Amino acid sequence: MPHFDLGALAYGADYNPEQWPREVWREDVRLMGEAGVNLVSLGIFSWAQLEPREGAFEFGWLDEIMNLLHGGGVRVNLATATASPPPWLSLAYPDSRPVTVDGVRLEVGARQLYCPSDPHYRALSVRLARTVAERYGTHPALRLWHVNNEYGCHIDQCYCAQCAARFREWLRARYGTLIELNRAWGTAFWSQRYGDWAEVQPPRRAPSFPNPSQGLDWRRFSSDNILELHRAEVEVLREVTPDIPVTTNFLGFLPGLDYFRWAQEEDVAAVDVYPDPAGAAPHLEAGMVFDLTRSLRGGQRWLLMEQATSAVNWRERNAPKRPGLMRALSLQALARGADGIQFFQWRQSVAGAEKYHSALVGHVPPERSRVWREARDLGQELRGLDFLRGARVKADVAVMFDWHSWWALSQASQPAVTPLLPVVGAWYAALRSLGVNVDFVHPEADLSGYRAVTLPQQYLLTPDAAQGIRAFVEGGGTLVMGPYSGVVDGDDHVVPGGYPGLLQDVLGAWVEEWAPLQTGEEREVRWADGRVTPVTEWTEVLHADSAEVLATYEADFIAGQPAVTRHAFGQGYAYYLSTRPDAAALTDLLRGALQGAGVAIAELPDGLDVTLSDTGDGRLLHLIHFGPQAVTVQVPQASDARSGQPRASVTLHPTDAALLRVPVDFSLHELTARAAASIPT
Ligand code: GAL
Repeated sequence: MPHFDLGALAYGADYNPEQWPREVWREDVRLMGEAGVNLVSLGIFSWAQLEPREGAFEFGWLDEIMNLLHGGGVRVNLATATASPPPWLSLAYPDSRPVTVDGVRLEVGARQLYCPSDPHYRALSVRLARTVAERYGTHPALRLWHVNNEYGCHIDQCYCAQCAARFREWLRARYGTLIELNRAWGTAFWSQRYGDWAEVQPPRRAPSFPNPSQGLDWRRFSSDNILELHRAEVEVLREVTPDIPVTTNFLGFLPGLDYFRWAQEEDVAAVDVYPDPAGAAPHLEAGMVFDLTRSLRGGQRWLLMEQATSAVNWRERNAPKRPGLMRALSLQALARGADGIQFFQWRQSVAGAEKYHSALVGHVPPERSRVWREARDLGQELRGLDFLRGARVKADVAVMFDWHSWWALSQASQPAVTPLLPVVGAWYAALRSLGVNVDFVHPEADLSGYRAVTLPQQYLLTPDAAQGIRAFVEGGGTLVMGPYSGVVDGDDHVVPGGYPGLLQDVLGAWVEEWAPLQTGEEREVRWADGRVTPVTEWTEVLHADSAEVLATYEADFIAGQPAVTRHAFGQGYAYYLSTRPDAAALTDLLRGALQGAGVAIAELPDGLDVTLSDTGDGRLLHLIHFGPQAVTVQVPQASDARSGQPRASVTLHPTDAALLRVPVDFSLHELTARAAASIPT
């Protein structure tokens, strides 16, 4: 498998020279040199320029820009240019245009206008990929293939007749017989029995709640169907240029694609990350995606393929990244294992739907631009950080995450609407406030490398996943499981007999009934030490058989009954939370669980981001401060990773960062961090 290796950290952007006259290209390459740019993603939306009429290719301009970039020392992540079919394609082959759940066929005028099943789109995109690969496969600037762009970003499901036919094929391969399909989909309910494969449809708009098992399979199929499209391009690239690595840019927690599966197709995982600078905690929003991306390929280094230098254009109100934030988030990506930092885009458009999206070179000239100065300075700073490429981020703690469970949970007609990401985000934030590195782990992955595995809300658990969790706890692991987890199996059928059907022995507890709270409603739980803390959203009628009760409900018909339990099982412990505590109580619970599991933690002030990475001969401590108040961090035996000078105490103002080298046996216990003013001098 070819390995992505620029010999340095990558720095650069999406480059769309077709939007600019040639004079600007020369200026671009000069400015790229100034900013330390060594990699650009080229040609992502160039199909209409490269093939203005079907079968008529025009590569002259791309030849010229490839040579120009190479001459300027800039390497290329070359797109297969298949992300935005030109109008001629969509009009000549109307079935290539995707159809919505309501049966509306989408029209020409934006991008990603393709049905993943359409044979014409498939054939023409694969031909384009082959033509590009044959032409540039030996170009000295080429370092990486950028296949398509952000699959599933706008269109993750197409409900047309071609997709319906492929869905049936997919179902036949999965179930073999209609008897098995009828069983898996529970079609005895509401007279849905299928007597012929031709009767089986995508879950198009229907009078009432669609069949949830059908809906879950549809999401699985839709992810797989787009993946097949991706594979078709990748196969051609691997055939023509076996030595050039391939990637496509993921979107973190994108609902439509099972990235655990997708990531196995890539040579390097790449991701686009756009946290809201006006949000409560952009660094947690981004950090979660960075940690997910690293986890998708087992801890391998990865690429931040797109971020914004400042504002985006696609929220209702688009806040800029205030001075320092872009750098701090970029350093955070590097801390979490990124091998490079790229942006959308190099030069800000003056026309089109993204003309108000920030770039490195904006509408104002570089010499007058704060955003340019920050981007240029970061590019130069990266040249001194190439040693980070040897570092690995290892985690003792994991958050379980799975697209199939997310899809099942997103089906209509549940006890309550419970969006998954805010729940996962709250657990992730609590864990990160304790300083620990966090991986995201697939439910059927090997858990044995972790000391603690948390399940904020794992609604669907296959028997294999449940068995893996049982073995993990039995073997000495610590499990912390949140409510409404382990409810259904892989077919989205309830495992009856009390919830969670497959793990009651591990938890030593079982749930009889759910009692979701109304929006804004609050209850309280009383902890063993007498503290009373609020809970919201969800409560359960929980019975502790052999488990110890850590907290009980204060009111309602479940007053006095268990709310939180802990159970010794085998060599390990299983915690169960039947409700949603506030951040402080959740952090307290996780702190206790992690300490019990032998995980070293630190108490961090608000916004201080800590990552530990291993370099083989030592450890690096990445400190990046996103909080509002200056903090002082004390780390005995630390030295500055760049200068080598001893640095046992560091004061960090908002968006400041420090990179320290610490001994191999460093433990987070040795780190103390407080608001700067509260440290006695
Ligand atoms: C990404 C996309 C880019 C650009 C960017 C704007 O989703 O890949 O082409 O649209 O968003 O934030």
